Amino acid sequence: MNVYDSDRMADILSLQGFGLVETPDSADMVILNTCHIREKAAEKVYSELGRLALLKRAREDEGNEMILAVAGCVAQAEGEEILNRAPYVDIVFGPQSYHRLPEMVARVSRFGNKNSKNRKVLNTDFPVEPKFDYLPEVRKETVGSYEFAAKSMAFLTVQEGCDKFCTFCVVPYTRGAEYSRPVADVLAEASNLTSQGVREIVLLGQNVNNYHGEVYEKGHSKNVWGLGRLITEIASIKGVERIRYTTSYPADVDEELIEAHRDVPALMPYIHLPIQSGSDSILKAMNRRHSANEYRRLVDRLREARPDLVLSSDFIVGFPGETDADFKATINMIKEIGFAQAYSFKYSSRPGTPAALLNHQVPESLKTERLGLLQEILNKQQLEFNQSCIGRTLEVLLDRPGRISGQLVGRSPYMQAVHVNGMGLNVGSIVELKITSGHANSLAGVIGKEGLL
Ligand code: 5AD
Ligand code: SF4
Repeated sequence: MNVYDSDRMADILSLQGFGLVETPDSADMVILNTCHIREKAAEKVYSELGRLALLKRAREDEGNEMILAVAGCVAQAEGEEILNRAPYVDIVFGPQSYHRLPEMVARVSRFGNKNSKNRKVLNTDFPVEPKFDYLPEVRKETVGSYEFAAKSMAFLTVQEGCDKFCTFCVVPYTRGAEYSRPVADVLAEASNLTSQGVREIVLLGQNVNNYHGEVYEKGHSKNVWGLGRLITEIASIKGVERIRYTTSYPADVDEELIEAHRDVPALMPYIHLPIQSGSDSILKAMNRRHSANEYRRLVDRLREARPDLVLSSDFIVGFPGETDADFKATINMIKEIGFAQAYSFKYSSRPGTPAALLNHQVPESLKTERLGLLQEILNKQQLEFNQSCIGRTLEVLLDRPGRISGQLVGRSPYMQAVHVNGMGLNVGSIVELKITSGHANSLAGVIGKEGLL
């Protein structure tokens, strides 16, 4: 979502004449868009700011200016502290205030290079108005500006914020309450993206499957659509070939979404469904609203609807009070469900969250040991899944040139990176590839009998 937000910041600043540059040394303004989810991510901000301070000073010595801004969830959580710890920072603003960037930049610019207190801007309120109403249309230049050079795939935020309050998580405090964008806005943005060559849309939200967007349909005064209905509608937009969504909350998966997996061919057979732990007592302490058995049943229902569905997940090891038996339950769950991909983390105590105050914090060395064991199993399963694809023909959306000259890289329906000799192939096309090898993090394939689709 930070990638999406960064692109929207570029859109709004372009109206003031700003354009993107490749490196920060020649920039009139640098925005550090930050993440507060774990301590490591938050700490990185200060070391990065130290480096940027040197660039800012060098530019000022040459008589130029560099506005330095910190955005995102670290800005939201630490606000004033950033201005104290890094006094060369000019603007600090949270994830719900970036539509106000033009005002913030104007204020700072008025003071030129003067390091006056009045030059500083701190904007970490949760505004009453949703920022989306104030953002310009997505511009061609920023679609995929960050890492998807080909612009064949784009993110689209449909929902933001979270009301779940898992006891370990900062998101409800930094992103704020749940908000769903109206259906009409989402559809307009999706059409705009496809008119710019995008073929795969990834719908984003911290709790994306709790989407409940307002819609005005003929014959109804006002209605509300869930994610399943929204996906069905997006699939009917000309040019949309593939749809994904992330991240889902297990207890909010409803029948309509499961049916979309059965009925909408453009909806890719892959779901990121964080479980966090396989132990019911830990899930309870985490305030997750699902038990291990409920998660199992949900996976059964999803697989019934879409038998080739591939599951990915998030895991936290070393949550306070996690015993060997709890950890074992997580390991068993990983094997039983057969996750083909996952993100896993050591529990990181976050100030202000309930879990930070719990007794029985797990020692760092035990967290490290458990994470190692868990990742070994996940890596093994990922490799096994990748190797099970050898000999199959998969549709691959080619999205960028590979590292080796002449090579292209794309994504399989199951989110695997697939390498192919790109002779005669174009970035942005969907091709059928016969998979010839499967590695830890990628596949390789050759053009199948059908050739270009
Ligand atoms: N410590 C470790 N991992 C965390 N996550 C969220 N908060 C924490 C924390 N305090 C993980 C969860 C979530 C993912 C985005 O980050 O697994 O699903
Ligand atoms: Fe954080 Fe996700 Fe839990 Fe919300 S549902 S509090 S974003 S882990």
